[in-house]
Amino acid sequence: MVGGIMAGSCRSGRSSRNQTGHGGDRSISGDGWFTLEIAKIARHVVAIDIDPNLLEVARHRAKGNRMTNLDFVPGDAYAVATLAPRPADFVFMANAFHGVPDQPRLARSVGEALKPAGRFGIVNWHRRPREETTILGEPRGPRTELRMSPEQTIRAVEAAGLKLAQLIEVPPYHYGAVFQRPEPVDVAADVIDHAGARRTNA
Ligand SMILES: C[S@@+](CC[C@H](N)C(=O)[O-])C[C@H]1O[C@@H](n2cnc3c(N)ncnc32)[C@H](O)[C@@H]1O
Repeated sequence: MVGGIMAGSCRSGRSSRNQTGHGGDRSISGDGWFTLEIAKIARHVVAIDIDPNLLEVARHRAKGNRMTNLDFVPGDAYAVATLAPRPADFVFMANAFHGVPDQPRLARSVGEALKPAGRFGIVNWHRRPREETTILGEPRGPRTELRMSPEQTIRAVEAAGLKLAQLIEVPPYHYGAVFQRPEPVDVAADVIDHAGARRTNA
């Protein structure tokens, strides 16, 4: 994933259980750190970022690593479902969800981009004062007032119909929340089951 968002499809034969890293994917890309790591284990990755310059850096890194299973698509994360051409097994967004003005809208768009039972992984900074989250002695990460607790993130994403599947600590300062798009209800099978039960009970 580059700066904005990432999506794609799993390698065949791989379990979809561990999709925080083992899918094919769509990512908010940035400069490519997560995108390239995910592309090592995914069949295909679409990296999306609103900043084409960051995508260029990521493309350059991918080329340097002789990686060919990525597309780099400039655009707004709200349009993730149209920016990536195929339904995705997994959509990933790191260090960016806190800055999304309408988070349920984004989560709805991600839901539209996913296959049924596909997953949406978010990595966020913990809601701690910025002065406490230091790297090499310097405060890092978003401003304190922008940070979201796991509960806030879960509320925002579940408002769009996705369901929390897993909450993971990513020490020292982050957590990961993995959401799943519900499987469609098989109405026909339900009706037949119901009718069968009624006949049996008659
Ligand atoms: C803090 S950076 C995180 C980059 C990367 N995910 C990481 O963790 O290193 C946030 C990224 O989101 C991108 N971004 C901001 N608004 C966006 C939008 N509306 N659609 C897509 N990308 C966006 C920025 O260009 C930037 O690359």
